[in-house]
Amino acid sequence: MFYILEFGGQHTDLIGNRLRDMGFDVRYAESDARIPELRDASGIIISGGPKSVSNGYPHDPALFSSRVPVLGICYGMQLLGKHLGAGIHRRTREYGETRMSILDDSDLFHGLGSDGIVWMNHGDSVTHDGDFTTLAMTEKGVPAAMRSGNLYGVQFHPEVTHTENGREILRNFAERVCGQEPGEMKEEGFDAGAFIDEAVRCLREEAGDRTALILTSGGVDSTVAAKLAQMAGVRRQHAYLESGNGRKGEAAYVSGTIGHLLDAEIYIHVRRQMFLDALYGIHEPEQKRKLFADLYASARHDMERLFEEDEYVLVQGTIATDRRESGKEAGKGRSRDSGTAAIIKTHHNTRAEDTWRGATVSPLAELTKDMVRMVARKLGLPGELSERQPFPGPGMFIRYATGFHSYGRGLEDSASDIAASYGLEGHVLPRKGVGLKGDDRAFEHAALLAGGRDWDNVRAASKSIIEDTDVCRVLYLPHEMRFKPGHFMESGDYPMTERTLERLREVTDVVESTMRDHDVQSSQTPVITFGGPDGWINVIRDVQSEDFRTLRPLRKPGEFPWECYDEIDRRLRERLGGEAGMTTFDVSDKPGGTTEWE
Ligand code: XMP
Repeated sequence: MFYILEFGGQHTDLIGNRLRDMGFDVRYAESDARIPELRDASGIIISGGPKSVSNGYPHDPALFSSRVPVLGICYGMQLLGKHLGAGIHRRTREYGETRMSILDDSDLFHGLGSDGIVWMNHGDSVTHDGDFTTLAMTEKGVPAAMRSGNLYGVQFHPEVTHTENGREILRNFAERVCGQEPGEMKEEGFDAGAFIDEAVRCLREEAGDRTALILTSGGVDSTVAAKLAQMAGVRRQHAYLESGNGRKGEAAYVSGTIGHLLDAEIYIHVRRQMFLDALYGIHEPEQKRKLFADLYASARHDMERLFEEDEYVLVQGTIATDRRESGKEAGKGRSRDSGTAAIIKTHHNTRAEDTWRGATVSPLAELTKDMVRMVARKLGLPGELSERQPFPGPGMFIRYATGFHSYGRGLEDSASDIAASYGLEGHVLPRKGVGLKGDDRAFEHAALLAGGRDWDNVRAASKSIIEDTDVCRVLYLPHEMRFKPGHFMESGDYPMTERTLERLREVTDVVESTMRDHDVQSSQTPVITFGGPDGWINVIRDVQSEDFRTLRPLRKPGEFPWECYDEIDRRLRERLGGEAGMTTFDVSDKPGGTTEWE
C-alpha cells in the first residue's frame, strides 16, 4: 500500500492514478496523518502544495524517522530539504518544461540516461547545503532530485504526462526503493470497462425513483455522464442552456446528434440576453466565472419548475480537473480538508453543484480528460465526440478579455531587457491572464514578443520572462511589431457585447477552419481576443495536452506550419478588413499559464 499525503497540490490525484495504473494499491491520507498508524505502508509520498514550508500544512515529524521509504514531490522535497538542514529560497523559480541532468542513476533514475525533460512548478527552491546527496540538477542549478537514506525528493512532478519518464521514476521508487511488486497489470492502465460497471451501479442506486436532470453541453464529459444514466435505466430529463457563449451551431448539434445518441429529447433553454446583460462590464475573471455559474444555476432552477417534477437528482459531468482547479479535492472521499488545494479557477459546474439543494451524482469526479475519452470509446460513442476538443462552460465569456491593468516602468524594462537578450522586441501589455505558479493562482500581466521565427529562441525568452517577472502569459507575434504599446494603452476598451462576441466567433472560425485545411492537430485551440480601436489582438492558444493538467504550445513550424499562420492572417484581413488586428500565439506552458485566459 502506498500512502499519498495531501498538501494541496494541483496534481495530487495524478500520483495515485499513475501508481494504480501500474497495479499498486494507493490510499490518500491527510497531511498530518499519524505515521505509526499507517501500518501497511510500503512507501509514503508527500504531494506538492501551494504553501511555503515555513507555514505549510501540519505533518507528523515521525515521517522522517520511519522505516518506510518516503518520496517528497515539489513541496514534499522542500519539506525533506528543510528537515535535512537545507535552506529554502525564492530566488530561482521554474515553471513548465525544464531540462534536468541526472548525476546518479542508481535507483530512482535507474535506466533513464543522463538527462531529461521534466515539468516544474515551484517558486521556492532547496539549497545544496543540506545533509543529502543531489541526484539531479536543473539548468538553473537547482537540485532537481535528492536522497538521504530512504528519504527521496524530486523538485519536479513525475506524475504529470509531460515529464519524460515520469512513470518510470515512480515505478523505480515503488519497485527498486520500496521493493514492491505490482499486482495484476491492466492492459491500458485505467480499466474503463470496470469503471463503467461501477458507475452504472452507483447511478442506479443513487437516483432510485428520482428523475435525473442532466444539462448536456455537447462535450464529451456531460455526454458520457448522460450515457451512463441511460445505461442505468434512470428516468432522464435533458436540457441544453443557450447562454450565447457557445460554439457556432451548438444548439442544433446538441438537439440533433447528441439527442440521437442518448435517445432523448433535449430541451433548449435560451437565456442569451440575461447572460450578456449581467456580464457586461465585469472584468475580473473569478468574478465573471462566479457570476456565470450563478446565472447557470438560476437558469437551471427555471427549468426545474418548467418540468414540474417533485424531486430531481442532478447528474453532472464534472471531472477531476474541474474539481481540483476549483479548490476541491478530486473526489477521493477524504474526511476533512487539511491540505486544501488553491482555487485556480472556479469551474462553473463545481459551483453549480454547491448551489443545488438536492442530491448530485458526478460519476466522473475522479477522472481526467484522457480517462473520460477512454470511457467514451468503450461506450462506443462516435470518434467525433470521444475526441472532441474541450469547450469550457463559460466559453466565449472567458475568451473575451476586457479591463486595463496599468504596470510600472520596472516590469516593462525587465520584460523588454529579457526579450532583447534573445534578440527579440518585447513589451508588457495592459492585460492580465490567469496563470498557475507554484500550485497557486496567478493573475498577472501578458507580455508580447516579436521577431525572427526561431521557435526555440522564442520559447526560451518566454520561459525566462514568466519565471523572472510577474508575467504569466507570453504572446508571440511572428512578424514585425506594427503598433506601439503606449498607443494601445490609450486606445480605450471594447466592452463585451453581442457584436464583439460575434467578432470573436468569426476569428475563431477562421483559425479553426485554416488549421483544419492545413491538417494541424491540436489538443485544444481556444482563441482569445481583446483590444481597442487601433489594436485588436487575437491570440491562438494551440496546445498539446492529454489531460489539460499540464500543457505546452504546439511546436512551430513542426506541428504548426508558418504557412498556416500566414494564411490565418490573410483570411482574417479578407474577412474583417480593418478590424483584423494582430494575430499572435500564446507560447506559455501550463504551469506558468493555463489553457484558457480567464
Ligand atoms: P485551464 O484553463 O484551467 O483549463 O487550463 C483546463 C481545461 O478545463 C477547461 N475549462 C473548463 N471546463 N468549465 C468546464 O467545463 C469551466 O469553467 C472551465 N474552465 C476551463 C479548459 O477549456 C481546459 O480544457
